[in-house]
Amino acid sequence: MTKDYSKFFSRPSLKEAAKRSQEIIPIIREELESDPEIKEYAQGKKYLIQTFGCQANERDGEFLAGILEMIGYVPASNREEADIIILNTCAIREGAEDRVFGEIGHIKALKRQNPNLLFAICGCMPQQEEVVNNLLKKHDTIDIIFGTHNLHHLPSLIKEALYSKAQIVEVYSKEGEVYENLPSHRASNIKAWVNIMYGCDKFCTYCIVPYTRGKERSRLLEDVVAEVKDLKEHGYKEITLLGQNVNAYGNDLKLGYNFETLLIEVAKTGIERIRFMTSHPWNFTRGMIEAIRDYPNIMPFIHLPLQSGDDEVLRKMGRRYTSEEYFELYQTIRKEIKDVAITTDIIVGFPNETDEQFNHTLELMEKCRFDSAFTFIFSPRPGTPAAKMEDKISMEEKHARFKKLTKVVAESAIENNQKYLNRTLKVLVEGTSKRNKNILSGYSENNKLVNFKGSPDLVGKIVNVKITKAKSWTLEGEACDE
Ligand code: 5AD
Ligand code: SF4
Repeated sequence: MTKDYSKFFSRPSLKEAAKRSQEIIPIIREELESDPEIKEYAQGKKYLIQTFGCQANERDGEFLAGILEMIGYVPASNREEADIIILNTCAIREGAEDRVFGEIGHIKALKRQNPNLLFAICGCMPQQEEVVNNLLKKHDTIDIIFGTHNLHHLPSLIKEALYSKAQIVEVYSKEGEVYENLPSHRASNIKAWVNIMYGCDKFCTYCIVPYTRGKERSRLLEDVVAEVKDLKEHGYKEITLLGQNVNAYGNDLKLGYNFETLLIEVAKTGIERIRFMTSHPWNFTRGMIEAIRDYPNIMPFIHLPLQSGDDEVLRKMGRRYTSEEYFELYQTIRKEIKDVAITTDIIVGFPNETDEQFNHTLELMEKCRFDSAFTFIFSPRPGTPAAKMEDKISMEEKHARFKKLTKVVAESAIENNQKYLNRTLKVLVEGTSKRNKNILSGYSENNKLVNFKGSPDLVGKIVNVKITKAKSWTLEGEACDE
């Protein structure tokens, strides 16, 4: 077998990753080929994939599992018995990367016990040149480093790693084709992720995603609809349409359809529950609101990241809306869609955010009364514009603001949950409690986590539950007929 290092040694460049080309991205439909040699090697061997971060990564993890199973691997039940361990990483904040570095340490120890263990790292972290340089310099126990644009090469990368003493690095900066051919092993048989587009072109100044995931590439509407129909036929009850910013769906294709069209076509498949993640407030259209309102199988739940309630900070973040525009959209959604739940993301401590600017965020949070919010302390991501901005705000101050914010979030969360006391919600049962098999848990239409007593036979079914107790993050109830 020949070794071709030029092919398997491509490092990323954030500068290259920031470029956007106008070319139409090809769609690959041919089935992945399995090399007989690697199939013979992998037969019956065990894999373990540890995924960090967002739903896009979760879905990538399912593709990686599908590819490994295609060549003969079977799932491992723990790390000790694994023949290959893959860390599918996230780069959104420094904390996410630190967790991965912690895991690398653990796996190093395992590799000492089992030198035949293959150790791979993929996902968003290796899309950054600094990270790859660091991994190559300090972590020679890692056999394979690959990126978000070349999952489909995993079998060749494994084969190369087996024959090579060097670390294999294959990370493309530029996004690749749209792959319609990848096998996948879905994590659930009740609900499923469905990618509708990849990448992001928004370039919010704090965010690394447009660099690690490439330009916006939409899947064809007919491919998404066919996938949803297939999931429905296989008994799936709920699908979540995934994109970094689903509102941008279709723009790159220029085929005359957009996210609203897609939502309606997916609703017409008759699948029981449709969700979507994530929507940028900037181009959330009236048509989308009406589709959610008018189709009962589109769930009344919207994750609408605000990031900041201050106009100057929003401008510096490159968010393209003002706090007033956000609030107007927020109110329209609340007014039009019955029982809608709205959640958000907030970043505190953006470079040089003043007390007054932070207070604007607090005030808007008080006004909105979100169902829930994910709150983050700004984390400078090397290569992004915000990482270069002057920042005089101390970490202590940022933590104090963070604490204030989480208090407001918890208060409005419980207040929203209390609205459902004595009401009946439809809950898709996903599983039983670890401690008690007769405590079931699942999500209501508007994405409230509900726990209630019931038989494990109800897992996978949609059950009416009368709410008897409201906490900040969960509801409790009893199964009922109506
Ligand atoms: N620092 C802190 N939070 C960030 N997010 C994205 N980039 C950063 C960063 N550099 C948050 C945003 C986004 C969510 C997924 O993560 O709030 O909506
Ligand atoms: Fe990041 Fe902004 Fe794109 Fe969201 S919309 S992924 S925050 S650049």
